[in-house]
Amino acid sequence: MIDLSWLIDPIYIVTIFFFIIGMHRMSHPLTARSGIVWAGAAMLLATIVTFFTPNLTNFALMAIAIVIGGGFGYFAAKRVPMTGMPQMVALFNGMGGGAAAAISAIALLGPATTAEGSLAVIGGLIGAVSFSGSIIAFMKLQGWLRPRPITFPGQQIANMAVLVLAVFSGICIILQPAWVPAGVAVFLPLFFVLALGFGLLMTLPIGGADMPVVISMYNAFTGLAVALDGFSFATPNYAMVVAGIIVGAAGSLLTINMAKAMNRSIANVFFGAFGATEESDVQIQGSMKPIEADDVAVMLAYADKVIIAPGYGMAVAQAQQKVKELMDLLESRGVQVKFGIHPVAGRMPGHMNVLLAEAGVSYDHLFDRDEINPEFESTDVVLVIGANDTVNPASHREGSPLYGMPILDVEHAKNVIVLKRGQGRGFAGIENDLFYRDNTRMLYGDAQETVGKLVQALKKL
Ligand code: TAP
Repeated sequence: MIDLSWLIDPIYIVTIFFFIIGMHRMSHPLTARSGIVWAGAAMLLATIVTFFTPNLTNFALMAIAIVIGGGFGYFAAKRVPMTGMPQMVALFNGMGGGAAAAISAIALLGPATTAEGSLAVIGGLIGAVSFSGSIIAFMKLQGWLRPRPITFPGQQIANMAVLVLAVFSGICIILQPAWVPAGVAVFLPLFFVLALGFGLLMTLPIGGADMPVVISMYNAFTGLAVALDGFSFATPNYAMVVAGIIVGAAGSLLTINMAKAMNRSIANVFFGAFGATEESDVQIQGSMKPIEADDVAVMLAYADKVIIAPGYGMAVAQAQQKVKELMDLLESRGVQVKFGIHPVAGRMPGHMNVLLAEAGVSYDHLFDRDEINPEFESTDVVLVIGANDTVNPASHREGSPLYGMPILDVEHAKNVIVLKRGQGRGFAGIENDLFYRDNTRMLYGDAQETVGKLVQALKKL
């Protein structure tokens, strides 16, 4: 067979450039799709060229694994609705962590130096934690586990004990002390069981609303584990090192930014049992006042300035095209229209931006929370389309599960129209007193239908 192994390193260098270009393009929603293509091409190239490694065996097994994994990934990603994307990301990310842990196990079973072994143990620990933690995140978001924090007495101590034992097992694998016969055979499985257990225990007490931060943190973990694994063999794998570092750095930045957006520290997310206060609902005075689409259309038509605050319900209703139609109609009448985008509106980072971009709403219409908040006071009508937690003033109330999360201050507008189907609560599962305020009216129905009615009514005016 022709030896093509000399091609491996040069092609890895090419893939590294591809990864960097891909990551750069992902930094803006307009170029993000092509960024995914660049990164995907890099991954494909790196996978193909790895087959040129000399003395490779088990081709059939690898081919079967690639067909099963690739097939599952392809069909699952094709079928997943936009609203199920966070759990899909959690699952795929978990697989990355699991793969990194498996690579560490292989490195530890082979003849590794102390340095290589240490890197493999750290990579294995981080990868296994990311794997089991991501699976719990997936189950919480999918509704297979209750999203509220799952806690039990002495949990922190139990977590710490499992981590200490995992680290101890890892040290025993590296040092292989003489007092443990068949050290690796005993400690390797023990190490991975403990590491997986730690990931599981660490994630159970975290509430569903914090899962995006957790998923992105595990994403960073996976990158780090892969990078460490790249150094765990006699011949370092530079594609793994660079790809892992890129994922680790991007994941860390995303984690920090999301935590900032929720006004939380990372430590608070992981150890604060967010949402653990199952606050009995505060009694809200007043009632929700319904309004008809025709009346809202009149208000909109004669407004100077309208702000749209979209949320998860807009995604569920797939109302973004109708919302764009509404925006065009209003603008054609000289009404100024802006969108207020909360960083955690929907169910994944950038959820609203992606949907609105898909519908053709240009980026100069989108304003983030801090930009738009000072504008509500001078706004005639705010349309809250399927948003709830992100506009819930309960976030100002100590003891509320939402306490501390800065919201879109829509309540300061002259009129607030809330489009939702009924009395359904938001992700945090708590009442929203915005809906009971004097300046709020409820336009009930599926958002696609109600925005459609607004469009029809406006056309008649
Ligand atoms: P939510 O608080 O989830 O509220 C969505 C509202 O939409 C519900 O109250 C629901 O009320 C309404 N709705 C559902 N289907 C609808 C439809 N077909 N038509 C009209 N309305 C509909 O939304 P949000 O304000 O976007 O907040 C997001 C929440 O998710 C936050 O708590 C956030 O922390 C959490 N979270 C965010 C992410 C990321 S990264 N974005 C990931 C996971 C979790 P009805 O049932 O009455 O219609």
